[in-house]
Amino acid sequence: MRNSQIEVRPIAGSIGAEIHGVDVSQNLDDRTIRDIRQALLDHCVVFFRNQTLDAERHKAFSRRFGKLFIHPNYKGTQADPEVIQITREPGDKKIVGEEWHADTTMVSEPPMGAILYAIEVPPYGGDTLFANQYQAYEALSDGMKKMLGGLKAFHSDRKVAGPAAAMNAQRSTKVREDADWRETVSTHPVVATHPETGRKLLYVNHSYTNCFEGMTEVESKPLLDFLLDHGHRPEFTCRFRWETGSIAFWDNRVCKHLAIHDAGPFRRIMRRTQICGTRVV
Ligand code: SIN
Repeated sequence: MRNSQIEVRPIAGSIGAEIHGVDVSQNLDDRTIRDIRQALLDHCVVFFRNQTLDAERHKAFSRRFGKLFIHPNYKGTQADPEVIQITREPGDKKIVGEEWHADTTMVSEPPMGAILYAIEVPPYGGDTLFANQYQAYEALSDGMKKMLGGLKAFHSDRKVAGPAAAMNAQRSTKVREDADWRETVSTHPVVATHPETGRKLLYVNHSYTNCFEGMTEVESKPLLDFLLDHGHRPEFTCRFRWETGSIAFWDNRVCKHLAIHDAGPFRRIMRRTQICGTRVV
């Protein structure tokens, strides 16, 4: 498929495409940025290969798609709050993003996207999975869609940050665990409408969604567990094999993703920016 300058090659039936013919470290013209954005809307996650990006160019490319988001749970743990270095060392018991999730959905306006750049990757292992939540929604029965319409869910960061989550003893990438940390909670609709495409999608995830509004966690669990697992049925997913210099740019409004914790004896170092989003409707 030929666009103005870029070549977009899907990598799976439902989600994910590689973009070729572009060096994202350059000051790209508006048409190329528009075409990358369109590819993102069409494929939910796009990938680039063989890129060379220092942190400043990484931020500059990200800013072409919106303001940079500062992650509240990494404040003070990283040298530059606008980028998060995600490091996995051999022996780490936990890694960032090892459950199916959309990023940072405990805030009222979750990021619209994230741009992850591979600095050092294992020779094998450490892939990332992505799942298309339009398709997850569309595959539900009419009865289930009707039941979910109007339902809202609580999203909290208590499982991924703060003293009780106790992440820092188990992994190299540190989050806030100080005594001043406070849980952030927001409610979002269970069926959301993508602000650019207007398509409906399923909006719950393992890391952040605790229960439905107006129900207890115990009451919510059976339906929530079903929706969480349904959201990553294999036919909604793609799997990305990283190389040094690869980039994944995902639309956080419609993708869930999971970092596979199988890098064994190898180090894996990534750098991530996040781009501000809007209220989920
Ligand atoms: C993330 O969840 O943002 C990290 C994904 C990865 O490291 O592959």
